[in-house]
Amino acid sequence: MISLGIIGTNWITEQFIKAVDETKTFELTHVYSRTLEKAQSFIADLKKQNIDMSTDLNDFFKKDFDTVYIASPNALHFSQAKLAIENNKNVIVEKPSTSNIQEFSVLEKLAQEKGLYIFEAARHIHEPIFKKIEEIVDKHRDELSGATFSYMKYSSRYDAYLAGKNPNIFTTKFSGGALYDLGVYTVYDAVVLFGQPEKVEYSAEFLSSGIDGSGSLTLKYPNFDVNIIIGKTKNSYMSSEIYFGRDTLVLDNGGDIHHLDWADDNKNVTDVPTVKSQNPMDSEAREFARIMLEKDSATYDKLLGYARIVNRVLEQARTSAGLVFEADEEK
Ligand SMILES: NC(=O)c1ccc[n+]([C@@H]2O[C@H](COP(=O)([O-])OP(=O)(O)OC[C@H]3O[C@@H](n4cnc5c(N)ncnc54)[C@H](OP(=O)(O)O)[C@@H]3O)[C@@H](O)[C@H]2O)c1
Repeated sequence: MISLGIIGTNWITEQFIKAVDETKTFELTHVYSRTLEKAQSFIADLKKQNIDMSTDLNDFFKKDFDTVYIASPNALHFSQAKLAIENNKNVIVEKPSTSNIQEFSVLEKLAQEKGLYIFEAARHIHEPIFKKIEEIVDKHRDELSGATFSYMKYSSRYDAYLAGKNPNIFTTKFSGGALYDLGVYTVYDAVVLFGQPEKVEYSAEFLSSGIDGSGSLTLKYPNFDVNIIIGKTKNSYMSSEIYFGRDTLVLDNGGDIHHLDWADDNKNVTDVPTVKSQNPMDSEAREFARIMLEKDSATYDKLLGYARIVNRVLEQARTSAGLVFEADEEK
């Protein structure tokens, strides 16, 4: 078992801990929160005992555990991951791991120098249903002719934003917005399935906070385009599609994929049998632990390569749209 510390006490961390408990991959030993009350309530909700708690980040990282899972607002990932690596911890950091490619390069280099792992928690690419998509794309790669991905979901925090509050996810201070929060999943789809795009263009619908509430993104590949629609201020029920000339693979969603269909030229639509795990974080938890325990450097390098391209594409996309984060000023 790998001992685990966590940063961030929101629902996503609880879901990750449930995944690691189910898969018996990591053991939660240390919790950091800005307040003792939140740390206590997080531990109590999970019915855990004998968990060490810290409210000071430096003290937290000096403690004896192997790996940290970071699920704080995006803009804090870089400094927290850097401190973790400096204190000899492996890092699993929520998507997107950084606000810009320069931060990513610093973390990558530091982790390599220290012989530590840094994983970007792009949960969906590890799920069996995504592996099925990869298998289909590989089988029909000669006919591959583009894709449309859509991930647009009215955020539970948008009402607070409209009420004049300032939720982290709708601020440039915390590197939020549609592209970095939801677009990242669809950019992962494209990068894992089709590789690095040649050109990236993002057209954003800006909110008055300066963040992108929604937008459309085009990734240009040598022989086709990938069109992406993302948003946090409205709901879309559009399917996503991968085109193979006359045939089409239909995904029910570009980021939260539950169902696949295959449609042929005669409009015959057949269900593609797949497995969807109950907890969408199970597969990544199992995979990160396996890579560390088996020292599977080939798979690790592949994942790190995807993360590097995705972080670069995200930055290129927002640069093309004129979307600036406060983290850029520190570059
Ligand atoms: N993989 C997925 O399916 C998935 C789903 C949702 C979110 N995420 C990712 O998880 C990360 C967290 O997202 P979230 O929506 O949970 O964010 P959030 O609610 O804004 O913050 C998460 C945690 O960070 C701490 N925090 C909040 N504001 C802070 C501040 N101003 N300074 C320092 N710490 C602060 C809080 O923990 P304490 O109060 O305990 O310090 C909070 O519980 C993001 O990177 C997001 O992209 C991933």
